[in-house]
Amino acid sequence: MISTTPALARDIDGKAISAQVLDEVREEVLALANQQIYPALAVLLVGDDPASHVYVRNKLLRAKDVGIRSLEYRLPETASQAQVLELIAQLNADPAVNGILVQLPLPASIDEQAVIHAIDPIKDVDGFHRENVGGLVQGIEVLTPCTPSGCMRLLLEICGDLSGLHAVVIGRSNIVGKPMATLLLQANCSVSVVHSRSVDAPALCRLADIVVAAVGRPALIDASWLKPGAVVIDVGINRITSEFGDRLVGDVDYASARTVARAITPVPGGVGPMTIAYLLKNTLIASQLQRTARLDGALSVSAPVLG
Ligand code: GUN
Repeated sequence: MISTTPALARDIDGKAISAQVLDEVREEVLALANQQIYPALAVLLVGDDPASHVYVRNKLLRAKDVGIRSLEYRLPETASQAQVLELIAQLNADPAVNGILVQLPLPASIDEQAVIHAIDPIKDVDGFHRENVGGLVQGIEVLTPCTPSGCMRLLLEICGDLSGLHAVVIGRSNIVGKPMATLLLQANCSVSVVHSRSVDAPALCRLADIVVAAVGRPALIDASWLKPGAVVIDVGINRITSEFGDRLVGDVDYASARTVARAITPVPGGVGPMTIAYLLKNTLIASQLQRTARLDGALSVSAPVLG
């Protein structure tokens, strides 16, 4: 008997693909250690946001796994902006620190933009500084935001060459939506960005070969938003509390979407691990950029060079 059950989308395994990226990082860390170079990442967490605590813990654990030195800084919810800026100034000046990550969101009393732009762009492993954002838009090699970089790697694994494909990015945040659209454009996609003011977002989305969802709305996108055979990257990580306990869901209704899509990232286990892998990759890139800048005489070195 011929089965009429529709084929379900293939899962895009972010754990397995991030493990490959982490292996590449580990190998490079070993090669650098042979030259007495030890890249280091400083992570600053301000306040008590429970999700941020989990993310930071995971970042530090992975850094340790691949042999990258990490320095953890915690400030209370009541910390002043001046305290945060003072710490960043110290880390900027410390040649033993190659990457600086300030976990977002920051407490409401602190100006997030002021903090992001206080980080030396050459140590901005998040790629959020306007200098790195500008470089990204102009196609200059810079430190690129980690989540979009991770999504691109997933897409390259699934689709290979993306030239000519129509990609729809849902969401226009500085962290994901805007840099994601820029990277897709650089990969020769036709790109649409759908957002809260878009007219008939599902209809726009149905035109897409590639959908990247980054809106922070649990299970917003279902099968009715998708063209058959679309590749779906779900960046959302939304915590849902019910009588059965807490669980994480993406911005995409996974069960519905996989009846129409060709491939889809699960939540958890899709994009999340890629973000951390690319943070560590960026730490190595930052360390390399700093060594090159020192050789070019663009950075003054007043202490022994560690990374
Ligand atoms: N909060 C949510 N995502 C991110 C990220 O990629 N970097 C930082 N620094 N904070 C975040």
